Amino acid sequence: IEHRPLYGKHVLVTAGPTHEPIDPVRYLANRSSGKQGYAIAAAAAAAGAKVTLVSGPVHLRTPLGVDRIDVESAEDMAKAVREALPVDVAVMAAAVADWRTKEYNDIKIKKRGAAPPALVLTENPDILASVAASAKRPDLLVGFAAETNDVVDNARKKRKSKGVDWIVANDVSGDVMGGNDNHVHLVKEGKVEHWDPMTKQDVATKLIEEIAERLNNDD
Ligand code: PMT
Repeated sequence: IEHRPLYGKHVLVTAGPTHEPIDPVRYLANRSSGKQGYAIAAAAAAAGAKVTLVSGPVHLRTPLGVDRIDVESAEDMAKAVREALPVDVAVMAAAVADWRTKEYNDIKIKKRGAAPPALVLTENPDILASVAASAKRPDLLVGFAAETNDVVDNARKKRKSKGVDWIVANDVSGDVMGGNDNHVHLVKEGKVEHWDPMTKQDVATKLIEEIAERLNNDD
């Protein structure tokens, strides 16, 4: 049990970007390689958890012992997450696109004349906030906040407004998206832990250790 501290627990992880189709050949997306989310899924599985990984389009191999569900758009991701509940813990590391085009063009938009097309956008569902408000809310809900400035302050606000337990405040002012290293602060209720820059794998291991500690102390 000591080294499989999440044995018997079901952990849901989201990772990667979402792609919001404009027409059959074009999309809008956020920057994300999926590395941080996949490392968390791998660390949770190594800790003995049953792991469901809802993944946007990435070029990564499924970690050992992880049940992976591939999705493309934010709406697909929202549905897959809904269907994965209930779980004990959810860690939402996906970089969900905040907007999608209001109307999808089912044929390729042509470059007619000089004026480029004007994209009309509409807001995507907030997956994290809807899990927080769900009747099947996990015991521990962990979100991310990718910030370029006022990292901890913005993350604190997101923790409150989205109704989540912990926020991993991710400083993305450097070369985080796609890279192997990360710099995060763990924002809890009334407490912030400043973690040194480290590899995404180490962030994942440390986060899973904290999650296990929290679950096992509450049981
Ligand atoms: O994938 P990598 O290249 O390894 O990079 C990792 C990462 C930087 C993408 C990752 O660590 C990270 O910070 N992910 C969150 C990115 C993000 O979009 O953050 P946000 O501040 O926009 O969103 C806040 C939280 O709400 C996140 O948990 C996000 O998953 C969630 N969200 C956001 C919008 C939306 N419509 N639905 C959501 O659930």
